[in-house]
Amino acid sequence: MTMLRLLTSVLLLLSAAAAIGSRAEEVTCSGIVPMKYRRNTISITDFGGVGDGRTVNSNAFRKAIYSIQHLNRTGGTRLYIPPGVYLTESFNLTSHMTLFLAKGAVIKATRDTLNWPLIDPLPSYGRGRERPGGRYISFIHGDGLEDVIITGENGTIDGQGDIWWNMWRQRTLNFTRPNLVELMNSRDVIISNVVFQNSPFWNIHPVYCSNVVVRKVTIIAPLDSPNTDGVDPDSSSNVCIEDAYISVGDDLVAVKSGWDEYGISYGRPSSDITIRRITGSSPFAGIAVGSESSGGIENVVAENITLYKMGVGIHIKTNTGRGGIIKNITVSNVYIENARKGIKISGNVGDHPDDNYNPNALPVVKEITIKDVSGVKILQPGLMQGIKKSPFTGIYLSNINLEWVPGPRPSAPWTCIDVSGDSTKVSPSPCSELLT
Ligand SMILES: *[C@@H]1O[C@H](CO)[C@@H](O)[C@H](O)[C@H]1NC(C)=O
Ligand SMILES: *[C@@H]1O[C@H](CO)[C@@H](O)[C@H](O)[C@H]1NC(C)=O
Ligand SMILES: *[C@@H]1O[C@H](CO)[C@@H](O)[C@H](O)[C@H]1NC(C)=O
Ligand SMILES: *[C@@H]1O[C@H](CO)[C@@H](O)[C@H](O)[C@H]1NC(C)=O
Ligand SMILES: *[C@@H]1O[C@H](CO)[C@@H](O)[C@H](O)[C@H]1NC(C)=O
Ligand SMILES: *[C@@H]1O[C@H](CO)[C@@H](O)[C@H](O)[C@H]1NC(C)=O
Repeated sequence: MTMLRLLTSVLLLLSAAAAIGSRAEEVTCSGIVPMKYRRNTISITDFGGVGDGRTVNSNAFRKAIYSIQHLNRTGGTRLYIPPGVYLTESFNLTSHMTLFLAKGAVIKATRDTLNWPLIDPLPSYGRGRERPGGRYISFIHGDGLEDVIITGENGTIDGQGDIWWNMWRQRTLNFTRPNLVELMNSRDVIISNVVFQNSPFWNIHPVYCSNVVVRKVTIIAPLDSPNTDGVDPDSSSNVCIEDAYISVGDDLVAVKSGWDEYGISYGRPSSDITIRRITGSSPFAGIAVGSESSGGIENVVAENITLYKMGVGIHIKTNTGRGGIIKNITVSNVYIENARKGIKISGNVGDHPDDNYNPNALPVVKEITIKDVSGVKILQPGLMQGIKKSPFTGIYLSNINLEWVPGPRPSAPWTCIDVSGDSTKVSPSPCSELLT
């Protein structure tokens, strides 16, 4: 009897341990780019950095990063930012470095918009995203790098974006606003445990990159700040974004790949993108694909997404003139509370870079799976508008339960035009196009 009880307790303990073990082995992005610790450390204060919130530290950052680049120590070098507020102009990172923000460290952009450097437009956009010609360089920038880490103890990178948002509102911008962090043509990048605050424009923009991990970040900007997207993987592959809280004025995560004729001729897709365990709010989309998608976007998985006070929960968007194939997109395990639209797939979203776009460059949208979605207080559960000459196909919805709370000007719960697919267990009952 006692023996039996003992055996039962041991078995119970073992199964509890196994349960804890399997919970600890939660899937993470770590396999894509393993975190590394760098033994060589320098501090911004070694280069005259002063964290008093007034001193402009541009030279300290440039000298520190120049020394990392030229000392070229085995295993790379960590640039330590101690607690304090380090005001600086924009600066460039280098390969084999870790930018480490201690707890209480803030790297803050100056408000000197008049002297902000310009760089060339991205070839896949042909011009700045919001103004013709060049664009202001991102606050923290990198081009052609490898093995770059931005991490720490949740210190802050602050873009002081309000000055830029006001220029946008007053239409006094001469060029496209700066991203907060942009890495171009780079690989093996980790961005983790940092708070991104008040970006002038998009927050984190990996473009023409591979092997990029963004995890455990907090990204915040006012809900009315224009175009402050959270993370925009653009013409990049093997990007993994997880465990982030994002509350901004535009899409939380938007996968992109170039703009109309420029994106089509550059021809660089985004592929193999994983997005998981994201929580946040925005007047626009939670998980977005497009609208810039001219290089094609494929193999995207988004799962375990929790959204509050949203414009649109999930939005796949493109336009005539974009070209590009959007395919094999799977979004699952989403909770949406309070949104204008639950799921939106649209073929008429976004502007064109100029009048030279090809109206016959029709995008293809196919193999879209959206499953295990629940929501409350949704004004319209689904709006799907394909393109007449290029209907969207293979839209598959399953196990969707969106509480339809029609607004003052109610629409049907589902509106579907030029789309086809299938559905199971969808409530309210979907449109006939998705019932085969
Ligand atoms: C840095 O050192 C590595 C070997 O340790 C070498 O391959 C590389 O060319 C060096 N880079 C520069 C910029 O000196
Ligand atoms: C940073 O890099 C860009 C090109 O990527 C270059 O135009 C700019 O001059 C660099 N800035 C500094 C301060 O070195
Ligand atoms: C924009 O251009 C106008 C006219 O050239 C100039 O007066 C103004 O200072 C510029 N603004 C900025 C922020 O560069
Ligand atoms: C930083 O924030 C993340 C969540 O975003 C949390 O998991 C981590 O424990 C925090 N780290 C520190 C040092 O506060
Ligand atoms: C679809 O995407 C997933 C996730 O990236 C990938 O594992 C799968 O192989 C892709 N399917 C096809 C048919 O390419
Ligand atoms: C997603 O959440 C479910 C529970 O809702 C959990 O079982 C699963 O492990 C989670 N998946 C990921 C990738 O976090």
